[in-house]
Amino acid sequence: MFSTDGSIKNNEESKPNKKKAEVITVASGKGGVGKTLFSINLAIESASLGKKTLVLDADLGLANVHIMTGIYPESDLMDVINDKKTIEEVVIEGPGGIHIIPGASGIFKLSNISHQKRHQLVEKLSQLEKDYDVIVIDTEAGISHNVLKFISIADKAIIVTTPDLTALSDAYAIIKVIRSKKSNDNISVVVNRVSSSNEGDLVYKKISMAAQKFLNYELKSYGYILEDGITVKESIQTRRPIVIQYQKTKVGTSMKTVFCNVFNVEPKKIVEPNIILNRFSMLLENIRTKESV
Ligand SMILES: Nc1ncnc2c1ncn2[C@@H]1O[C@H](COP(=O)(O)OP(=O)(O)O)[C@@H](O)[C@H]1O
Ligand SMILES: [Mg+2]
Repeated sequence: MFSTDGSIKNNEESKPNKKKAEVITVASGKGGVGKTLFSINLAIESASLGKKTLVLDADLGLANVHIMTGIYPESDLMDVINDKKTIEEVVIEGPGGIHIIPGASGIFKLSNISHQKRHQLVEKLSQLEKDYDVIVIDTEAGISHNVLKFISIADKAIIVTTPDLTALSDAYAIIKVIRSKKSNDNISVVVNRVSSSNEGDLVYKKISMAAQKFLNYELKSYGYILEDGITVKESIQTRRPIVIQYQKTKVGTSMKTVFCNVFNVEPKKIVEPNIILNRFSMLLENIRTKESV
């Protein structure tokens, strides 16, 4: 749903004959709340649902989508901003069949790009819209012009927070700015790193009540993701995505539920390998019993 003037546009009107990519922008008030981990796994889940999916690493200050996915790109978004490469040229393949546009780490903050460059970047991105079903934009923390721009072009804006009080108040602050600037009307919250479902519900209640009382806004929830340091660390170190290799873990099952909410699909039953084996041996047992009769 790209519109280069930053306004929210109905895609059916703006591009009646073209395929429409669903743009999902992931943002947060505070850094380190899990946006990148969330964005990569959301994209992989999307690809596994048969949707052609692209992740744009729009965090040029601390770009790390490529680090988390173990990719060492030759060119990145900065080359596109500086007109050294076309946007198609910097797209690379990532895990689980996703495509990635890497950000450039630590060289130059995307926040420093001019209004004109930002406008051009969104225009270039809009050229990819017809090639994908879903575009996930992983942003930098906080409320920069870029983040607001990427939120304004999104069909779904997802604000990630943790139960931590500063993360939560920063999440509220970003939602307040989005609403005051009328940048997006489809904002949902995901509470990451919770110790229990109760904590997840409580945190969502707090922020949604504040949004309702002070912003007169019905904030949606896609749910919560459980704290699971061991699995997350292992997944990042081994570069095996949580939604593929760690489906049965605390973080894996809770992430899946959140993603089903995002894509509005029924959760698939995960069949454990030993259950399949048990069924197989029961089948063999039946055959043997019948044969011996
Ligand atoms: N559910 C979780 N359980 C445990 N650790 C997590 C979880 N989600 C994220 N983390 C940790 O938080 C760190 C920051 O995550 P990251 O996705 O880089 O955050 P952001 O992109 O918001 O800065 C990760 O390295 C990971 O160790
Ligand atoms: Mg990040």
